[in-house]
Amino acid sequence: MHTLNRDLSTYVKQAFIDAGYGDSYGSVKVSDRIDLADYQCNDAMAVAKAMRCNPFDVAEAVSARLQDCPAFRSVSVARPGFINLRLNDEYLAQRMNHMRSDDNLGFVHCDNPCTIVVDYGGPNVAKPLHVGHLRSAIIGETMKRLARYLGNNVIGDVHLGDWGLQMGLVITEIKRRWPDLVYFRPDFTEGMDETLSISAEDLYNIYPTASQTAKEDPVYMAEAQEATLMLQNRHPGHYALWKNFMQISVRDLKASYAELSVDFDTWYGESDSDAYVNDMVEGFISGGFAHESEGALVVDVALETDSAPMPPCLIRKSNGAMLYATTDLATIVQRVKDYNPDKIWYLTDSRQTLHFDQVFRCAKKTGIAPETLQFEYLPFGTMNGKDGKPLKTRDGGVMRLSDLIQMMHDAFADKCRSSATADSEQSEALDGMNAESDEIARLVGNAALKFGDLVNHRTKNYVFDLDKFMSFNGKTGPYLLYTVVRIQSLLRKAEERGLKYGPILPAASDTERNLMLELNKCSTILLTALEEKAPNYICESLFNCASVFNKFYYENRILDEADEARRSSWLTMLSLIRDIMKQQLWILGIDVPEKM
Ligand code: ARG
Repeated sequence: MHTLNRDLSTYVKQAFIDAGYGDSYGSVKVSDRIDLADYQCNDAMAVAKAMRCNPFDVAEAVSARLQDCPAFRSVSVARPGFINLRLNDEYLAQRMNHMRSDDNLGFVHCDNPCTIVVDYGGPNVAKPLHVGHLRSAIIGETMKRLARYLGNNVIGDVHLGDWGLQMGLVITEIKRRWPDLVYFRPDFTEGMDETLSISAEDLYNIYPTASQTAKEDPVYMAEAQEATLMLQNRHPGHYALWKNFMQISVRDLKASYAELSVDFDTWYGESDSDAYVNDMVEGFISGGFAHESEGALVVDVALETDSAPMPPCLIRKSNGAMLYATTDLATIVQRVKDYNPDKIWYLTDSRQTLHFDQVFRCAKKTGIAPETLQFEYLPFGTMNGKDGKPLKTRDGGVMRLSDLIQMMHDAFADKCRSSATADSEQSEALDGMNAESDEIARLVGNAALKFGDLVNHRTKNYVFDLDKFMSFNGKTGPYLLYTVVRIQSLLRKAEERGLKYGPILPAASDTERNLMLELNKCSTILLTALEEKAPNYICESLFNCASVFNKFYYENRILDEADEARRSSWLTMLSLIRDIMKQQLWILGIDVPEKM
């Protein structure tokens, strides 16, 4: 099965060929004027320009050749040369039946599937997840699922921050607090280590103290830098201590991500690239790419064509320590060796644009990345509070993911309590629910959070508005869940009554026809979302499907419909809507509860 766009374009393209205009014309798009047409083709204007003729005549000639095409109810021409296409109802219904019997619900794979590494999440060991990491996880997870669902071979890697100065800071602070730990003994050797009796929570307060102290105290900072270097040189005590708190932190991170239904294929960190650093740096030197600058080793990456200054890429500090760019470059070496990917996608907030520019240029210049490897940086904006500044806790601290999840959870509990007095939509959704339905609360909170994020274009900043995100009305996660749950409940009732499913019939009303059109657009929308790396298209599509479905639901008494063929057709259509919406929600990382 092909997308509706593609099938319609094939017909129109053939008409352009038959009319003598060659094979480069005929692509269609959803009409800008749905009062006039479902789809339209604007290529008559392009032909007219290329062949110096009248676009209206071109459109007329093409349209004449489409009059008998079974896909169209009508084909008409509007000045200066728009070809307006109205789809035939039988044709639409037939496509719906194909979608229902298709294993992939009519969703088609992308044209050139390839191997993609998605580098997302990027949490730092010993630091709690904050909202910046949250967006990376939400958007990255979606891009990973989307690319994979559309046929690509995708590897999602968390790329832990576990090797830089922050590790030295944590070690320094642990040493200050517990100087007698075995790790700090000069005679420490492997095997002497003891289990650290600190919790993830302890670690999360150790790091901010350390980072604050280092800012104020140069001696402390020097110590932390020294500790970083010792770790990178695998000093036995530091290394053993690091391994220990790594474990504590990673366990906690995994639990947080699980709450969010985010999961990674690999849990590599910056430290895993260490094995590749020495050879890589040697290569940079022997290849004449790297040179010393004020004691540090750098690779120049500026180009003559640059309009803004492009500082050199820092590879090694004067004290010998490796930097953020070094680990990113060595990770490229590792990924090329392990997967030979066609693409690597990186997701961080837009403040790292310069860093990735430098890294990509350096990788290409030095040849560690093959010519064909495409680096793509997918930056995103910040999640702000209502004051327009990055979201903070009430007392002004960094908003942690766990705080956020708790907030969503509480908001849901409030809603359950107030549902008796709330609007009918909400109380219907929450009928029989109570705040103790933990798993449902998690799913609703998750949907609210993710949808509230993904509905905005990736690069935009947006305001975290709990009430809006949690509402059961409007363009929200809960509204979508509620719609799918409504369909599920209808289908359950149908089953209890022993009602039968039948082939999908041509639409009996405009609303039903619109519903079919919306569902037919979904496949194209997934492809566009992948192409443009913009999950917000999927959100819009879901919202449109849900809105039209709910209109259809209010206009019809589906289960009580007397005409059996019609009712059976509706049941099949309902099952298709449910599956399509669930599939799209799954791509967004949103799971649907059976009941609410
Ligand atoms: N750990 C980094 C941070 O918190 C993000 C890592 C992004 N990925 C990468 N390959 N550099 O800023």
